[in-house]
Amino acid sequence: MKVMQIGYGYWGNNVAKKLLASSMFEFVYLAESDETKRNNAIAQLPKEVQIVDNYEDYLDSDIEGVVICTQTEYSFEIAMKAMEKGKHVFTEKPLATTVERSVKMIEKAKEIGVVLHCDHLMVYNPVIRYIKRMIDEGELGEIMYIDISRINLGPIRKDINAMLDLAVHDIAVIDYLTNGLEPDELNAVGTSFFGNQETITYLTMKQGDMLVNINSSWISPVKTRKTVIAGTKKMVIFDDVSMDKLYIYDSGINIVPGSIYGEYEYQTRVGDIFVPHIVYYDSLQKSLEHFATCVVEGKESLSGPSQSLRVMKILEAAQEKLRAGRND
Ligand SMILES: NC(=O)c1ccc[n+]([C@@H]2O[C@H](COP(=O)([O-])OP(=O)(O)OC[C@H]3O[C@@H](n4cnc5c(N)ncnc54)[C@H](O)[C@@H]3O)[C@@H](O)[C@H]2O)c1
Repeated sequence: MKVMQIGYGYWGNNVAKKLLASSMFEFVYLAESDETKRNNAIAQLPKEVQIVDNYEDYLDSDIEGVVICTQTEYSFEIAMKAMEKGKHVFTEKPLATTVERSVKMIEKAKEIGVVLHCDHLMVYNPVIRYIKRMIDEGELGEIMYIDISRINLGPIRKDINAMLDLAVHDIAVIDYLTNGLEPDELNAVGTSFFGNQETITYLTMKQGDMLVNINSSWISPVKTRKTVIAGTKKMVIFDDVSMDKLYIYDSGINIVPGSIYGEYEYQTRVGDIFVPHIVYYDSLQKSLEHFATCVVEGKESLSGPSQSLRVMKILEAAQEKLRAGRND
């Protein structure tokens, strides 16, 4: 698939490497509006990739898709222009800054008949795939709660807050694990130290009896990527910065007959801890290749319109809660 990547900043650097590493792509153009970053690209990318400044001049070329790695505030306009020219779109997360913009993008993709893929890359993560299989096979039992910490030191962004930047991954993962997340209750609080937007946020949700808590922060002394999923049968901890990644705890609560007839007691059960060997592959490359496969097979991406819209609706509802809690 012939593609043009747009944006070569912090993350665009990684995306370019994965495009080059994959046999499914022909990386034809890299568009970058900033001269310094363009020079970086000239120095770092192979000569086959043509480095250009204005992506619009190349939308009429024979590329089949665009890979958008600009700041989120610009991705909407670029995606709409690219789709108008019949190009498939891979865009960095979040899909857009608002639900309204997301809906316009989704409608445009449908109208033109192109694939729209949002890079919710954790959905393509091998550990998440392993957990999904456990949940689907009933190994965890009913999920009682999911608690996620995605905290690190910066970068402090100006166009979006920490929740839009970080929780988007976690919401997409929970959406994937639970076959669609549409919470009955949602609450969010945040604070804006060192930023014009919230730099530290907490998002809580309830769907049926399942509780979700997501902590997103750019102000933490250490990088933490920890997901705790507690099922009624087993519990798991996915620690993305540890070597072993996934710990499965055969621990929980046993319900046993009590001393009084007809009554029950709750006994804690502390069992084995299992660390499975999971064959590692790169989630970003998998996400890119899933996009290419969807183009070839003409199917909707797993992190395409349906999932992106559910994720954006949650994020927007959470943004309203954050706005309501602001002092200014
Ligand atoms: N999937 C992930 O895990 C992950 C991680 C980090 C960032 N991201 C996402 O990647 C995107 C980029 O983030 P970043 O940290 O690389 O930002 P960045 O500011 O470092 O880079 C964005 C680049 O896009 C360029 N750009 C902007 N408008 C352009 C245009 N019209 N034409 C050409 N180039 C243009 C800018 O000059 C800049 O170099 C964001 O959407 C962010 O949310 C995703």
